[in-house]
Formats: sequence, structure tokens, C-alpha cells
Amino acid sequence: MYKRASVKTSGEGSTENSRTPAGQMYDRLKILEEPGTCLEPERRLRAMNRPLLAWYESHARILPWREDARPYKVWISEIMLQQTRVEAVKPYFERFIRELPDVASLARVEDDRLMKLWEGLGYYNRARNLKKTAGILLERYGGAMPEHYSQLLELPGIGSYTAGAIASIAFGHPVPAVDGNVLRVISRVLASKEDILKQSTRRWMEELLKKIMPADRASQFNQGLIEIGAVVCVPVGPPKCGECPLESLCLARRQGLTGQIPVKTPAKKRRVEARTVCILEQGSQIAIRRRSSKGLLASLYELPNVEGTLEEADLAASFHLEQEMVGKVEKLPEAKHIFSHVEWHMTGYRIQVAGAFPPEYIVVDKKKLETVYALPNAFARYRELI
Ligand code: ADE
Ligand code: SF4
Repeated sequence: MYKRASVKTSGEGSTENSRTPAGQMYDRLKILEEPGTCLEPERRLRAMNRPLLAWYESHARILPWREDARPYKVWISEIMLQQTRVEAVKPYFERFIRELPDVASLARVEDDRLMKLWEGLGYYNRARNLKKTAGILLERYGGAMPEHYSQLLELPGIGSYTAGAIASIAFGHPVPAVDGNVLRVISRVLASKEDILKQSTRRWMEELLKKIMPADRASQFNQGLIEIGAVVCVPVGPPKCGECPLESLCLARRQGLTGQIPVKTPAKKRRVEARTVCILEQGSQIAIRRRSSKGLLASLYELPNVEGTLEEADLAASFHLEQEMVGKVEKLPEAKHIFSHVEWHMTGYRIQVAGAFPPEYIVVDKKKLETVYALPNAFARYRELI
């Protein structure tokens, strides 16, 4: 009787021990990497595909914009997720989609309402660009999102990362989406000492990833890398290499360089600006102002504030109040707010005001501040005290 010989295959999948998939991959690499040699970056990244996709399949967090990856939702979520953590974004995303469920409603929303929906997320230009782009989508694409990377890139507020994220996650196109998470993970896997704040580093990485990403799993590939960067190869503190599907491939890990990589040029020092913020109160009413349409926090509302650390005696003149209008004055705690290029170090006062406010102020009911007017987070400490 003919008996089939059992053939032992070599390479991946042949290890019959109980090691983890990551461990098996390491065995494979030991074969690929002769002593004293090193995989070229492209081959190293190609070896990442299989463990990355397997890990993402079992570890992807369930997120509202993943459950239903229609282009509009992918777009809104990716814009919100720039500079903001997933947990913070979730409630904003749900509320935004409920109120503005499609391109047409976003194109039509009133600016003040849009700012209110964005209140607390910061970087308000992101929201202004969303509305601008919604208008363009109506005009140019009948209200749909275009699917190609180059078309997406032309839209306000959409850069190479977001264009890649929408094209791959919503449309399955094999284009990379390199954000800060991906820059960190790939720099570490390759032990790259390129400065990740340089555009040239991002472009180099995009080119590499474009060559090796699986054509039919672009969404999972990109989101898998982002996810590893968010929850394993974390932005703050040491990476959790023991839980990482790329551990066996990762050169920074093997060379003990995770503390030095990624390399970032030290940011320029922020300018520190002293400011005095006032709660100008009259019974249940309070005075706010609209900021100028240019510069920091453009066109948003604010609590009245001026540059400098004022003494009580200077308040009336600086806030354009007649001396006899100023009633009880209470000193409030100091507060700090950090923007990207400037830091506000704030002193605060609560002033009971009598008589008519000067016309620069908008006098509103305190309750309306909760529902109608968007006050940026910079004023959060004083807002709590209203
Ligand atoms: N951060 C940026 N994009 C993301 C996404 N699609 N999923 C999770 N975190 C993200
Ligand atoms: Fe990051 Fe460690 Fe994974 Fe390398 S092994 S990618 S350093 S978590």
C-alpha cells in the first residue's frame, strides 16, 4: 500500500512548537537575517503584513466610525482624531453625526452652531474647513466624497494623511495613511533616526508603505498600524513591546533604542503671555465678546480678557467700565492654557457690574452659554466659576 511521505516544509508555519505567532515570525527572521546582516527596510516592512493583519483582526477596538465606514463618517472622524484622542472624540463624533448626518446638512449649518458642536475639541479651523469642504462637495461632486487620493488632497483641511485614510478606509484604495502613530511605529521597526517632524521623512515612509501594503487589505493595514501606535507602541511612556505583533521584527526593540526613537527636533519654545480674564456679572447675566475674525481662536466667543496681569485698581479702565459701574470684585484662581505656539498664564476676577454694558460686550443669560455660545477651552477654568 502506498503511503504518502510526510513532507516537512520549511519557513513560516512549519514550527510545531507552542510559540506565539510573533515568536514564529522571529524564527523566520533568524533565517532571513544572517549574522551581521540586516533586512533591507522594504523586506522588513513586507514581513510585517501578516502579523499586523492577524493582530488587527483580533484586537481592533470597536469604534463608531469603524462600525459604519461610509465616507462621510470616515472623513469627520479622521478630522476629529487629528490632535485628539479616541476616547475624547467619541461623544463629539456621535453628537456631530446625529445633528449633521450628511454633507448637505454640514454645508448649511450656521457657523455659531458648528463652533458649538466643536466646542472643547480645539483647533477650530478643522471645523471651518469641514464646512468649506462640504460646500465644495455639493458643488463639485453632487454631495458625495470623491474616492481618489489626489481628488481628496485638493479639499480644504485634507492633507496626505487624511486623504490616505479616507481613500483606504472608506474606498479600499491601497494608499498609505501616515499619521503620528504610524511615524512612531515604523521609525521604531526600522530603527530609523530620521526626524519624524520633517515632511521628507513622512514622504519617504509613504513611499515605502505604498510598495509593501497589501492591495486588498488597505483599510485593515492602515488602521492596524494606527491602532498599534495608539494602544501598544504608545505616544507617551514606554512601548508595550511584550504585547506587540511586530516585536520580533522591530529593530529599535532589538537594539534597545525605543527610548531614543522616534527622533523629533525639539519644538520651539512657546511664547508665554500673561492675561487677565474677567467674569463680568449682572444677576443671571454675563458679558462675553466675539473675538476678531483673524488670529488665535478667530471668531469664537470669549470671556472678556486683556493682556497683562492686572491689579484690581486697573480693572475698570481696562474693561471699559465706568468706575461707578464696578461693584463687588472677587479675585479668582490663576489658570494656564497651552496653545501650539503660545501659553496663556491667566489671572481672573469676578466683577459685579451695575448699569449698561458698553456695546463691545454681548450680554447673555448664563444658561445660553451652555447651549448657544461656544467658549474655547482656554477659558474652562473660569467658565466653571460662572
Ligand atoms: N486615529 C486616527 N485615525 C484613527 C482611526 N481610524 N482609528 C483609531 N484611531 C485613529
Ligand atoms: Fe513599538 Fe515595541 Fe512594537 Fe517595536 S516592538 S513597534 S517599539 S511596541
